[in-house]
Amino acid sequence: MCGIVGYTGFQDAYDIVINGLRRLEYRGYDSAGIVLESTNNKFEVEKTKGKVDDLVNISSQLKGTAKIGMGHTRWATHGVPSDRNSHPHLSNNGKIALVHNGIIENYDTIKTMLTEKGFTFKSETDTEVLVNLIQYFMDINSDTDFPTAVRYALNEVYGAYAITVLHEDYPGVLVVGRLGSPLAIGIGEKEYFIASDASPFVEFTKEAIYLEEGHMATISLEKGVDIRTINDNSKIEPEIQELKLSLEQIEKGGYEHFMLKEIFEQPKSIHDTMRGRLLVDEGVIKMAGIWDHVERFKNANRIIIIACGTSWHAGLIGEYLIEEYARIPVEVEYASEFRYRNPIITDKDVVIAISQSGETADTMAALKLAKEKGAFIYGICNVVDSSIARITDAGSYTHAGPEIGVASTKAFTAQLTILTLIAFKLGKHNGNLGNADFMSLIAELDAIPKKIEEVLNTTHELVQNIAKDFVNATNFLYLGRGYNYPAALEGALKLKEISYIHAEGYPAAEMKHGPIALIDENMPIVIIAPKKGHYDKIVSNVQEIKARKGKVIAVVNKGDQQVSAMADYVIEIPETSECFSPIVASVPLQLLAYYIAVYRGANVDQPRNLAKSVTVE
Ligand code: AGP
Ligand code: GLU
Repeated sequence: MCGIVGYTGFQDAYDIVINGLRRLEYRGYDSAGIVLESTNNKFEVEKTKGKVDDLVNISSQLKGTAKIGMGHTRWATHGVPSDRNSHPHLSNNGKIALVHNGIIENYDTIKTMLTEKGFTFKSETDTEVLVNLIQYFMDINSDTDFPTAVRYALNEVYGAYAITVLHEDYPGVLVVGRLGSPLAIGIGEKEYFIASDASPFVEFTKEAIYLEEGHMATISLEKGVDIRTINDNSKIEPEIQELKLSLEQIEKGGYEHFMLKEIFEQPKSIHDTMRGRLLVDEGVIKMAGIWDHVERFKNANRIIIIACGTSWHAGLIGEYLIEEYARIPVEVEYASEFRYRNPIITDKDVVIAISQSGETADTMAALKLAKEKGAFIYGICNVVDSSIARITDAGSYTHAGPEIGVASTKAFTAQLTILTLIAFKLGKHNGNLGNADFMSLIAELDAIPKKIEEVLNTTHELVQNIAKDFVNATNFLYLGRGYNYPAALEGALKLKEISYIHAEGYPAAEMKHGPIALIDENMPIVIIAPKKGHYDKIVSNVQEIKARKGKVIAVVNKGDQQVSAMADYVIEIPETSECFSPIVASVPLQLLAYYIAVYRGANVDQPRNLAKSVTVE
């Protein structure tokens, strides 16, 4: 949630900040704001409820006026989206400006203390408390300089934050800090960039420092980047990294939305995820993370998969895969539930964390708990060097490339790819998956990107037409069995996230235990019914639906007869072994959600109330 951009250098700070905010808008988009330090060292602030475009409408006079500044796109946690609650926030004396990503959990106590000292507050945010706390530390001791006051203030707060701060009396100086929310510093020639991820500065520099947890930095053209620990001010040597991100990867490349681009990228993202790992000709799966710790997996009491949202759905399919092929017991947990229910965790457990962003606060907190109890932590993340990737003991990146659309698509199928590789690798190693089966499964996995390509070609237009008929639907059911039950959950989540149509996913057999009461001629029901995997049972379920006049949209294998004969709409996908069917079946379901949302005029890439990376609990 929330995007931060900061800049100091020789270019127009307004342009850099505004263009940077546009790239980060996926992280939060209910309000936007900018502050520039003008040539006479005074702040110029503009902020508004709404999108970056709304900010541009009220701030274009600032163009060309400054070489240093910062901006913010908000995802409100404390106080409704409004002009007043938008960032940047100023201290009472008007000299300090701050943008913040995260939550200050003890803001109330600090607010009471500051109010008693005479401070007043214009907004309902936790952020305004922090900026005034910095002023307070400078007020009570005139020897306390700006970076020191920021440090003192950060030592008083708990919660999660990435902040960037400016002070009118310290022209040319940006102070940043992080705990729990990401922040990158781009190092250019005579210029520095600050951003929540590297996308705002990727065309200007390939060198960046990812600020570590509990670190802060004072940045100026004169003195460069001075990194310190927040708790005891120890100096830290900066670790400069080479960025792998290209501009092309973060732009839409001719597609109307990032989501559509990302759906179409799946043949490549799955291929990239398998690259160097799946060596079909040699008959091996190479995964250093697994191999180096294979005994830990082999001797595990059980594997606990922890995740949220779409990543949790991938985890459920992971359970089916690992239990079927490696015969190791697996539990799949919502991170938010796991951490608060006093779970039994031992050092014989292996925890697999799945997270696209690698920043999800619930997942992070659950992992910390599991780590404390001695479990071995394996990460499946898409964002390299993200917070979750860093705290794991080992892991495999998904290599799906940046996923910008808030609704996860290519990251999901990449997560399934990694989980499949893990299941096959462990199964082969512990002898539960015989060589002949292993060889034929990996050959089939290798061919999945081609099958996805085929699905995109053959279903794209068809699904668009189907979507037109459901623009006014108010409810949807998604049903599947076995591996396709989690795929049904994911299909329903996609639809509700971006179209705001209520949708539920169910195991198809559960329908008769309740949801069947909802079925009438107005209820669309998406059924995932591939040949392999309980097909006969699904046929009966479709019969039950048709007997109640429900409208069936069936995802079936090419040449299917029985389900197709009963369905109102048929989407054909190529046949695969059951374990691969969720990867293939998910693609038309993503397209269906996408087109229904587009025809309803929804903002597909930035659905209301959501954020790409949920860094609050
Ligand atoms: C996906 O479409 C959702 N926006 C959401 O459920 C997401 O999967 C969830 O917030 C977890 O995110 P993560 O994978 O980055 O941890
Ligand atoms: N908690 C702050 C607010 O509600 C920051 C939210 C964000 O990260 O955008 O304003």
